[in-house]
Amino acid sequence: ERFMSEEPLLAGRRVLITAGGTIERLDPVRYITNDSSGKMGFAIAAAARRMGAEVVLVAGNTSAGSFPEGVQHVQALSAQEMYDAVLRRLADTDIVIMAAAVSDYRPKSVAPQKMKKTGENLILELERTPDILQTVGQRKGKTFVVGFAAETEHLEEYAMDKLQRKNCDLLVANDVSQEGAGFGTDTNIAQIYNKDGLLENLPMMTKPEMACRLLRIIASTLEAAGD
Ligand code: CTP
Ligand code: CA
Repeated sequence: ERFMSEEPLLAGRRVLITAGGTIERLDPVRYITNDSSGKMGFAIAAAARRMGAEVVLVAGNTSAGSFPEGVQHVQALSAQEMYDAVLRRLADTDIVIMAAAVSDYRPKSVAPQKMKKTGENLILELERTPDILQTVGQRKGKTFVVGFAAETEHLEEYAMDKLQRKNCDLLVANDVSQEGAGFGTDTNIAQIYNKDGLLENLPMMTKPEMACRLLRIIASTLEAAGD
């Protein structure tokens, strides 16, 4: 298999990857989540390992199968748990890749007991979750930061805005309205941006292939910067 003969482009690099969707509890038996499978993050973790990196995979709710071999697995189901898991390790990480689909909101309060139905309508009050990537961008030091963006319109404009706002070194933008890209699929389509604009246009390919392409771009960007 061609992936097995991967060059050790990331030898000695400590890479942290987030994957999957988060789960935000409402009560002991109910929660808010999203369609993220974790497949992209798992593929990146496996490929980074094959390229010689020391890999930590921080995973939320996933349906991507078994964890890649040789990778340290940390479970972090809620946005808050994921925030804690990532920030705790940031200083010991060379490359952070935030492929997780983090919930933007969570229930403002978590009921300690199973909620009973009351009236005809129910209004849930939600509050913002911490933005993990934005915090990482603010505190990154020498760490190389890669964000993801899932969009259904204005891909370039929204991607460049996220890259700047979150102080990312690279941003992987997926147009999830296209067939063959996005949540749960085995393939992906991506545009990779840096602060100067579009760096690479990746046509539809399998997630493991895309993971290799992305990691090669990261490795060559680091090498060009002399790191
Ligand atoms: N992200 C994060 N913490 C959050 C929300 C998002 O770390 N609370 C990260 C995601 O992991 C991803 C990037 O930010 O790497 C972009 O996520 P996305 O949902 O596309 O962007 P948002 O900033 O949440 O903007 P919006 O959903 O409004 O488009
Ligand atoms: Ca979001």
